[in-house]
Amino acid sequence: MSQEQQKRAAAEAALKYIEEGSIVGVGTGSTVNLFIDALAGIRHLVEGAVASSQATEERLRSHNIPVVDLNSVAGLPIYIDGADEATEHRHLTKGGGGALTREKIVAAASEQFVCIIDESKLVGTLGGFPVPVEVIPMAQSYVGRQIVKLGGQPVLRDGFKTDNGNIIIDIRNLPIPDPIALEQQLNAIAGVVCNGLFAARPADVLLVADSNGARTL
Ligand code: 5RP
Repeated sequence: MSQEQQKRAAAEAALKYIEEGSIVGVGTGSTVNLFIDALAGIRHLVEGAVASSQATEERLRSHNIPVVDLNSVAGLPIYIDGADEATEHRHLTKGGGGALTREKIVAAASEQFVCIIDESKLVGTLGGFPVPVEVIPMAQSYVGRQIVKLGGQPVLRDGFKTDNGNIIIDIRNLPIPDPIALEQQLNAIAGVVCNGLFAARPADVLLVADSNGARTL
């Protein structure tokens, strides 16, 4: 199976977690786009979806899947999203697409987080993929200096603005022996809105697809 086929297999395997009549939290990215395409096939069974980005909202609407405001629901039964890296502990690095803050909000508001990945994303330890941090623009230099003190190399994502009007700093070459501790440390830096480590609230289910199809971790 190609990587695209593996992404599709993971995306389609997530359908069985969707309850009839429910509202589904939907992440962002190429794997999630395949999930949205699959969800379109059962759209008559769901009430709607909460989107984690403008791109996802547009794709949901293009399939006539009703988009619901997170503030109009008491909570969500399920959140489906991809990841840039994942461990067997279901700790994740996310935010390659820059939607990390809204993704973390929708994940937090959901009872169950099902993460869908192809096998290239499964790693022993997080840190190969740079950790994205969403930052208030005026804090760019300050946050960069704090990242250097932590041992990382801050790189501004050039020309990129998040859906919230902020910048992204990608942290390269930062060892991550304790993802939960680092997630908290990064969040404690003034000017940081959110970071791409999803460890304090990991995925509940990891659907990994390889050439044999999707399996659950
Ligand atoms: C976007 C994300 C995505 O889930 C992550 O980047 C994976 O994307 P893809 O499925 O395209 O590989 O966190 O902010």
